[in-house]
Amino acid sequence: MIAHRGASAYAPENTLAAFELAVEQGADMLEFDVHLSADDQPVVIHDETLGRTTSGAGRVRDHSLRELKRLDAGSWRDVRFRGQRLQSLQEVLERFRTRIGFAVELKAGSAVYPGIEDRVVSLLEIYDVVDRTLVLSFDHAALAAVARSNPGLARAALLEPRTRLPENITAVTPRGATAVGLPARLVTEQRVRAARAADLDLYIWTVNDPARMDSLIEWGVRGIITDRPDVLRSRPRFA
Ligand code: G3P
Ligand code: CA
Repeated sequence: MIAHRGASAYAPENTLAAFELAVEQGADMLEFDVHLSADDQPVVIHDETLGRTTSGAGRVRDHSLRELKRLDAGSWRDVRFRGQRLQSLQEVLERFRTRIGFAVELKAGSAVYPGIEDRVVSLLEIYDVVDRTLVLSFDHAALAAVARSNPGLARAALLEPRTRLPENITAVTPRGATAVGLPARLVTEQRVRAARAADLDLYIWTVNDPARMDSLIEWGVRGIITDRPDVLRSRPRFA
């Protein structure tokens, strides 16, 4: 039960408000996205630019963490969230490390953000959360770099929504991934079966429909990534 950008149906994505609510609603993991600041700090935000979800503008990469912390990351959603701030990865780990697991999505690896994999892995080690963290990425080279840095970290290769996917998804799973992430529209029972037969954990995003949650639970996927942890928690399997 993985809270997509926190409980993002109810609070601004990737903020403390959304993360605290996800914990309250009983999620097992917080899913969030990471980019690097100008001073090479991993920062929790979905887009590579600031315009959609903060009071700032331009690229995350062109601002220091100090500058990023001055921005408002809540008002875009609703005035009652005014004052929510962007979080560094370090701040999120510090605050939640004993309360919940983490699904950390690297939006890009070293090709865009040199050294990001080592920076993220070293924070996960320092905060002692390696065994409660899944690293996800569409950038499969980034996952390979994570594996070199710490082979003990679970790594999910995200497959593009555009991909023409065979029913045997293990055929397109990069070597070295311990798991696969599939967009909801590409999931079939046969694909779930193929992953399970190969001992590959399967994570599905973004699932907010209760009936869809029920089939995925029945088929035996490893994780469901949802904006509505309360809805998932209320399904009979979890009740
Ligand atoms: O972790 C999978 C999912 O979050 C990828 O899509 O755009 O929500 O980051 P997006
Ligand atoms: Ca994500």
